[in-house]
Amino acid sequence: MEERKGRRLLLFPLPLQGHINPMLELANILHLKGFSITIIHTHFNSLNPSTYPHFTFHSIPDGLSESEAATKDLVLLLSLLNAKCIEPFRECLVRLLSDASEEPVACLISDVIHFFTESVADSLKIPRIVLRTGGASSFAVFAAFSLLREKGYLPLQESRLEEPVIEFPPIKVKDLPLINRCITEEYSKLVSGLSNGAKASCGVIFNTFEDLEEHALARINQELPNIPVFPIGPFHKFYPTSSSSDLFSIDHSCISWLDTQAPKSVVYVSFGSIAAMKEAEFSEIAWGLANSNQPFLWVVRPGLVQASEPFPSGFLETLNGRGHIVKWAPQKEVLAHPAIGAFWTHNGWNSTLESVCEGVPMICMPCFTDQMVNARFASDGWKVGLQLENGMERGEIERTIRKLVVEKEGEEIRERALKLKEKANLCFKQGGSSYQSLDGLVKHILSLES
Ligand code: UDX
Repeated sequence: MEERKGRRLLLFPLPLQGHINPMLELANILHLKGFSITIIHTHFNSLNPSTYPHFTFHSIPDGLSESEAATKDLVLLLSLLNAKCIEPFRECLVRLLSDASEEPVACLISDVIHFFTESVADSLKIPRIVLRTGGASSFAVFAAFSLLREKGYLPLQESRLEEPVIEFPPIKVKDLPLINRCITEEYSKLVSGLSNGAKASCGVIFNTFEDLEEHALARINQELPNIPVFPIGPFHKFYPTSSSSDLFSIDHSCISWLDTQAPKSVVYVSFGSIAAMKEAEFSEIAWGLANSNQPFLWVVRPGLVQASEPFPSGFLETLNGRGHIVKWAPQKEVLAHPAIGAFWTHNGWNSTLESVCEGVPMICMPCFTDQMVNARFASDGWKVGLQLENGMERGEIERTIRKLVVEKEGEEIRERALKLKEKANLCFKQGGSSYQSLDGLVKHILSLES
């Protein structure tokens, strides 16, 4: 732990699992760098302060009704949070800034998707840094939406899906970060909020590292010439901690089950905290896994599939201990386990980065938004995965698993994944790119005047 800096940072995560985790990991890093940490969080998906006794927590009402909080429409949820949190957030900041018993506040660090924080921070004259929890490559694509419209890539045309987006190799038109390949007015507003929010900030932090997303970071530096950009990932590798910010209860039984499996044999299957699928797709996954003859650990989160009995009839009886199913796994621990041979993922950014850090090759099956970009980079950019290009079909699933985990054809992919792991594990050591960038961030924060 470095000497205390006598400065407090206010951190405001977006209340979704894939955003809470990196914000709290960042909080841990900055705490170890000597800052005091205050976390502001919404009642919706509220956090448990007892797991982080070294931070101060403040909860604000978000104004969501019961039905709004239960919505499955992600764009609607994000738009509502941006509209309804303004006043409670302002009131909370006013209280925190006027509290003379606490150390002076150096800055606010807000999730970039909470773009309403810009006007609140400006009006209270508090510097605002934003955290982009997703990758730099997808951010660069989001920031170029007007260009993509001008060039005719957007709105998406069915006849052009397989064409490359030449400005963003290796992205294809079908990988552009949308939901159901549509671009609604609300979605456009969120995308411009994200990129304008970064442009109006005092700095942008990325959970990534130079060697992984060099081109995207160079492009972002060009697009935001006056805004310092800090790629300081992978956060969870900097200071591994046992503190948990999980919104689901973790089933640790899978670790002792993994202990009984052969090295690099198990397919870990998880589609993050939001993705949902139809019963028919779920059934193809189940039979693809069963027919692959590889052991598998499958996270079937409540809400992943809407069905009272999701497993197809006869599936569970075929397993004979070869498959282990849990509702929520300790994912980082799982990916670091020697029994894991592949990660079948939806390519949320955290999952993608966690897989890269452990050298686990990926079966890529993106569902929406940034996941499409992350998946294309994993399969065609870094070449550490195979993408299920034709949806979910048990035969293709079975072939892809066997190719990636056991067959000669997958050997180069497995080797590249291990090489990328080495790079991921160097960048946060002394002298590495993320290590240096973090030093830059600390100096930058100390130079900010509120
Ligand atoms: C969301 C978006 O879907 C994603 O596109 C965006 O990049 C981040 O926000 P999510 O879908 O939850 O996130 O995926 P991901 O980014 O992979 O984050 C999931 C987190 O939950 C990871 O840190 C993962 O380690 C953790 N997790 C997941 C568990 O701890 N246990 C599990 O069983 C599954």
